[in-house]
Amino acid sequence: MKSSEVRKAFLSYFAERGHVQVPSLPLVPAGDPTLLFTSAGMVQFKPYFMGLAEAPAKRMSSIQKVFRATDLDEVGDTTHLTFFEMMGNFSVGDYFKAEAIAWAWDFLTNVLSLPPEKLWATIYLDDEVAHDNWRKQGVPEERIIRYGEDQNYWFSGDVGPCGPDSEIFYDYGPQDDCPSCEPAHDGHRRFVEIWNLVFMMLYQHEDGSRSELPTKNIDTGSGLERMSMVLQGTQDAYATDLFRPSIERLEALTGRRYGDDPAVVRAFRIVAEHSRALTFLVADGVAPSNEGRGYVLRRVLRRAVYFGRGLGLTGPFVSELAATVIGQMSDVHPELQHQRTAIIRLIRDEEERFSETLRRGIEILEQTMDATSGKTISGDDAFRLYDTYGLPRELTREIASEKDFAVDDAGFDTAMEAQRERARASQRFTVDEMDAELAGALAAQKSEFVGYEAMEAETTIVALVKDRRSATTVSEGDACGVVLAITPFYPEGGGQVGDSGEIATPDGIVAVEDTQTVGEGAIVHYGRIVRGEVRVGDSATATVDAGRRAATMRNHTATHLVHAALREVLGTHVRQTGSLVAPDRLRFDFSHNSQVSPEELRLVERLVNAKVRQDVGVSTRQTSYQEAINEGVIAFFGDKYGAEVRVVEVPNGVAFASAELCGGTHCHHTGQVGLFVITSEGSVGSGTRRIEALTGEWAEEWAAAQRSRLHELTAIVGGGPAEVVERVRSLAGEVDQQRRRLARLERDQARGSLQGIMQGAEAVNGSSFLTARVEAANSEGMRELADGLREQIGSGIVVLGALLDGKPAFLAMVTSDLTGRGVHAGEIVKQVAAVAGGGGGGRPELAQAGGRDASKLDEALELAGELARKSLTSPPGASRVASEDLSVNKEGGNG
Ligand code: SER
Repeated sequence: MKSSEVRKAFLSYFAERGHVQVPSLPLVPAGDPTLLFTSAGMVQFKPYFMGLAEAPAKRMSSIQKVFRATDLDEVGDTTHLTFFEMMGNFSVGDYFKAEAIAWAWDFLTNVLSLPPEKLWATIYLDDEVAHDNWRKQGVPEERIIRYGEDQNYWFSGDVGPCGPDSEIFYDYGPQDDCPSCEPAHDGHRRFVEIWNLVFMMLYQHEDGSRSELPTKNIDTGSGLERMSMVLQGTQDAYATDLFRPSIERLEALTGRRYGDDPAVVRAFRIVAEHSRALTFLVADGVAPSNEGRGYVLRRVLRRAVYFGRGLGLTGPFVSELAATVIGQMSDVHPELQHQRTAIIRLIRDEEERFSETLRRGIEILEQTMDATSGKTISGDDAFRLYDTYGLPRELTREIASEKDFAVDDAGFDTAMEAQRERARASQRFTVDEMDAELAGALAAQKSEFVGYEAMEAETTIVALVKDRRSATTVSEGDACGVVLAITPFYPEGGGQVGDSGEIATPDGIVAVEDTQTVGEGAIVHYGRIVRGEVRVGDSATATVDAGRRAATMRNHTATHLVHAALREVLGTHVRQTGSLVAPDRLRFDFSHNSQVSPEELRLVERLVNAKVRQDVGVSTRQTSYQEAINEGVIAFFGDKYGAEVRVVEVPNGVAFASAELCGGTHCHHTGQVGLFVITSEGSVGSGTRRIEALTGEWAEEWAAAQRSRLHELTAIVGGGPAEVVERVRSLAGEVDQQRRRLARLERDQARGSLQGIMQGAEAVNGSSFLTARVEAANSEGMRELADGLREQIGSGIVVLGALLDGKPAFLAMVTSDLTGRGVHAGEIVKQVAAVAGGGGGGRPELAQAGGRDASKLDEALELAGELARKSLTSPPGASRVASEDLSVNKEGGNG
């Protein structure tokens, strides 16, 4: 059975049993900062298991892309993978052990036709219910094995949902590596785990204690690669159709065969597995960096490059394999095709960059091992290899272990921490802690929001806050928070800022500056009493600042249009990762791996403006989460949605349609957005871009400002706006010409002064020497002067002295005919500078040095003259200014 058939069979089996299929989360779980990567199928169901959000359906299924960094170093054997696809069926408080077991058995034996006698089950110690259900399927007692928590308990982390589980193993029959093998023997060849059924019913707290979850749930996971392996009659995941294309590509690239030599086999697996994982990681927005996800990506890539080199690969082969993976898997994972160019480019750049440093790093590592007396590489050395040569610690360890060396991990951590501390020292930040007391006081309050339809409401004050505590009365001048029974004020959320406006009671007025939700549902209006006093229980008229709100709505609707237009122009991999919707601007962050070109930006702008001109209605409706997802409405992974959701829609017509789950306030018609302009585009970290844009009157103001700038420019350069570019260009050309003329003049002048300096040259034996005190701005200026003199002097020695910033500076220059005879500028200048209390040196042809004592400048130049004369009068070969001569010269002062 082909892997594609396994995927289909799994999904349709569970669809027939009432499971709603949900899409895979990306590998980067947007909503869960505690997780580096999506590491299990259950990640997206966690809030449902915990009762934090209502599940869209009680029965769900998925094929989840999973990345497990913890298995990175194991990759190379037959079964361990960092990236894999996990098929799973899930129940949120619906069916439990009996159905989960019966369906797993039925699917394996009847749909996939695996022989029942090849299947074993493991259960948690005293799980009699699981035991009895396996017996009911006909599994004999001797193939039901009981294990403790280390084998048959699944945790979603140190803290979080957990529960006993039951695993299903496929038995390949007795193998040589372990005569009395059992399922728990990980890494042995007889058994392979093909399905894990977790009975997710408990929650583990920080202190290790466990309490019951609100519902009893099922979470199952079955690796597609292992299942395919079993079904395709192999014991090697890399022999399945999932890896075959990559292995074949590698055979072609290396000219070696997969299967001959164990070291080659291992390297093949590592390169193939890692290249595949990298392709998916980059597609989901991970970019190389030195920490977090980006660092894991680097480790994976660097390990692949290292083992590829061992296979004799030098060119960019990881990106070659990425292309193979994209070609092979895009029908199931279209995000690969959409990002094809970006994926290949990013991987190629990174592997090229690393290949260069790797060679040097390995060299240093080998030298370090040679120089180490024991068998441990110090933490400092390992850290230097990491920090300077980009060798991940794990790779250092792996390379070192080939020579039986270990790495001092604790020492590495200390070195790393010391560096982090240095980096951190200047940028500590404080965390604005949530005021728990206030949240507690307002927990009982729930305000009704009527701001979708109304900008004004008659209501009552149900709570007041002053100095972050609840109060009954607040008076003129006081800063306060007001909670109303009903309010048209939108509380900040979904990127949209909170409303401002006014609350008027019979005795007072509150100027509201901001609105926020506190606790579960209290909407707090923050502001100041500008007149009288207000009390809990007062009737009140709440009025939103309508102009500000309208401007905010324009930006919110535009944000949806930008999102849809970006997906249209750049591809559907574009996902919103953050936004700010304010009255005066909008900011939109999204996943995309390369810069958006000016042409693409212009296209986005045009699409949005076309949609605005089309003036279509923006509609909102309530529906079920599942309905919305089935319709392809954009939801934000990681956001918590209830079973009922609000969909904001802009229909198709010109170019694109938009539909998003959103609680924000919007224009009724796109025409109300007015003019839309993008003002900037840039990067905000790995794989994320940011667009800033304006709408309505803010966009008009922006356009007007551009025009007045143009007018100003026109007034300066003359002519009309249409000619301004031409004029500026020709002015710039003129400036350039003038600059060149000036440079010529300066050169001529310099040549004149060169000739002046040259007057002081003395001829000796067909060469000349020249010492001079000159004016120069810096040592660069001295070099220019020397270059000029070199041309003039033909054959000879030049020594220049100057005061630079009040300090003596020297330059010695020797023409090449004389360096051939052993005259050395470096040695001359060293000795000359010593007179003025300095030092220095350099090449035989040209050398510079500094001194300390400005009053010795002339004396030093005198010595220079003597040295030069002596060099020219000594016979060839003996003219070398040796240091003994020089010390005599210096002490004797007469050369
Ligand atoms: N959460 C379990 C696992 O990842 C079953 O899906 O193995």
